[in-house]
Amino acid sequence: MNYVVHRFESVASTNELALRMAREGAPEGTVVVGREQTAGRGRYGREWFSPSGLGLYLTLLLRPDMPLDNVWQFGFVASLAAAEAVSDVSRLPARVKWPNDVLLNGKKLCGILVEAQQSAVGSQLCVVIGIGVNVLPSDFPPEFVERASSIAFEAKRPVSIEETENALLARLDSRCEELRSRGSDAILESWRRLDSTRGQDVTVRTPDGIIEGTAVDVDSDGSLMLKLADGSVVCVRAGDAVLGRTPDGSEA
Ligand code: BTN
Repeated sequence: MNYVVHRFESVASTNELALRMAREGAPEGTVVVGREQTAGRGRYGREWFSPSGLGLYLTLLLRPDMPLDNVWQFGFVASLAAAEAVSDVSRLPARVKWPNDVLLNGKKLCGILVEAQQSAVGSQLCVVIGIGVNVLPSDFPPEFVERASSIAFEAKRPVSIEETENALLARLDSRCEELRSRGSDAILESWRRLDSTRGQDVTVRTPDGIIEGTAVDVDSDGSLMLKLADGSVVCVRAGDAVLGRTPDGSEA
């Protein structure tokens, strides 16, 4: 892929800016990087903590030839590539957590937000893959302190945002190419090898409520297969998984 990287000292959200650039005709391979984000977007309308010079805040614009229904595949492409990049830089085995988180030593240090737009039915699809990586230690907001970390803190050695970006763009390039040439089953096969969710008791917050169960696998459509207390297996299409169970279903 031919990357053209646009760098900004400060940006509201690299995803928001990339979507705007896409509407103005920016080509596939456009990359937006912010040294800080003042309104970094997380999943489900949450904010992504994006202090200046401490993390990598990057969005890649793609124009894939696929139906809108397949856009979920990029969450797996991106989390797989990001986990590989984090392992490259930290020299530690990073893992993935359904659907799209990257963990090091069990702590989240990378989140993915994939957004898509299509101007009219049948018109060309545009996908932006937003990736936030905590590279250097920072004072996380209290609600994240227990579960978040950074590459440098976990690796216990100096790590730069630049090397993280280089590793990430290289890994994204090869996994995007693999999706094109071999399809999502090949991506999911590699993703499962890094999966920290399988076999674990998890609490999943879905748009329809909280479900608890044991993670069995990830299905070929990216759903989390959960075994419930009564032995039945349900497929959860969208949500956030927290490892472990909570007595009241609140955030673990
Ligand atoms: C999550 O909730 O885990 C997803 C977080 C995604 C954050 C990244 S940072 C770069 C890109 N720009 C944004 O506004 N969000 C994504």
